[in-house]
Amino acid sequence: MGKKRVLSGIRATGRLHIGNYFGAIKGMLNLQEKNEYETLYMVADLHTITTPYEVEKLRIDRREIIIDYLVAGLDPEKSIIFYQSDIKEHTELAFYLSTIVTISRMQHLPTYKDKVKQYPKDNTMALLNYPILMASDILLYKAGLVPVGIDQEPHLEIAREIARKMNSKYGTDFPEPARFVSEGEYIPSLTGEGKMSKSIEGSFINLTDSLEVIEKKVAKIPTDSGKGSVKNASAGVIVLFKLIELFQGKDLKSKVEKDYENNGLTYSDIKKSLAKAIYDELTPFQTKRNKIIKDDKFINEVIEQGANKAREIAKKTVSEIKEKMGFSL
Ligand code: ADP
Ligand code: TRP
Repeated sequence: MGKKRVLSGIRATGRLHIGNYFGAIKGMLNLQEKNEYETLYMVADLHTITTPYEVEKLRIDRREIIIDYLVAGLDPEKSIIFYQSDIKEHTELAFYLSTIVTISRMQHLPTYKDKVKQYPKDNTMALLNYPILMASDILLYKAGLVPVGIDQEPHLEIAREIARKMNSKYGTDFPEPARFVSEGEYIPSLTGEGKMSKSIEGSFINLTDSLEVIEKKVAKIPTDSGKGSVKNASAGVIVLFKLIELFQGKDLKSKVEKDYENNGLTYSDIKKSLAKAIYDELTPFQTKRNKIIKDDKFINEVIEQGANKAREIAKKTVSEIKEKMGFSL
């Protein structure tokens, strides 16, 4: 047996934010550095078109994710970096897998219901099929480990169910994929409501935001009088504490929490120093980005070589599955 495989992807719906960084990219980086894993990281550009999108924006955004991957430290020498849409086996396998999934199972998923609520006029077949395509992404490479945020757990559950059913019905050998959990698996929205997300205005801090922009965004986090019991703190104050923990450490977070309970906090000072800490962590990305973005040749090579390597594995799995399902000569 070769190395265990890891697969992850991010949709091309806008610039990456610190939620994506902590929830997904940190785990991707961690596993890339471990010798026992073969890591595949894609831009989930097919998943991007399951909700309304603009063609010109997709053209730009999908490449931007590749650039952000490289900037964040994904290394084409160590990981296979590619566009999902470059490998047609993703959609092909998704169709085979769809034969064992019921419509009602898909309709009851919370992630699906949320999206329908968000886009009531665009409740399409592609959206309903979203989790099957994601299961296909993972099973196509027989990946056992998937570094993603906690919001993706319902999708991983589907992928496990599909793996089990396929294995028992057709004798395939799909592993049941597990989520690789990282420290920041859930970064709340700056508004205090729900999670930080690219598609929710005012919820996020981008990896490319300037100090001024970060200061403005942090200043907007809703707070209170600055004193009270941590247990009953408002959603905005909890976001603030969480960001302090991630960017300035657990010790400072404990100190701030104590002050909140005893002496009271001056939010303007705390927010200013948090904004600076966030900016300091992001500065190396921004410097690197300015360099990489000029090197079109390098970026194109990464995309082309990534596709070639991914395709080789994908073809093998699909021909195996076709054979098992009765499409052999
Ligand atoms: P978004 O909701 O911003 O469009 P995606 O759905 O493209 O983000 O998610 C890309 C990856 O980042 C997934 O692994 C997801 O779990 C993770 N992720 C997204 N938002 C957060 C968050 N607020 N906290 C932690 N991880 C997140
Ligand atoms: N659904 C994931 C998200 O919204 C993106 C994704 C698509 C993905 N295919 C995947 C993540 C396969 C991990 C593995 O973030």
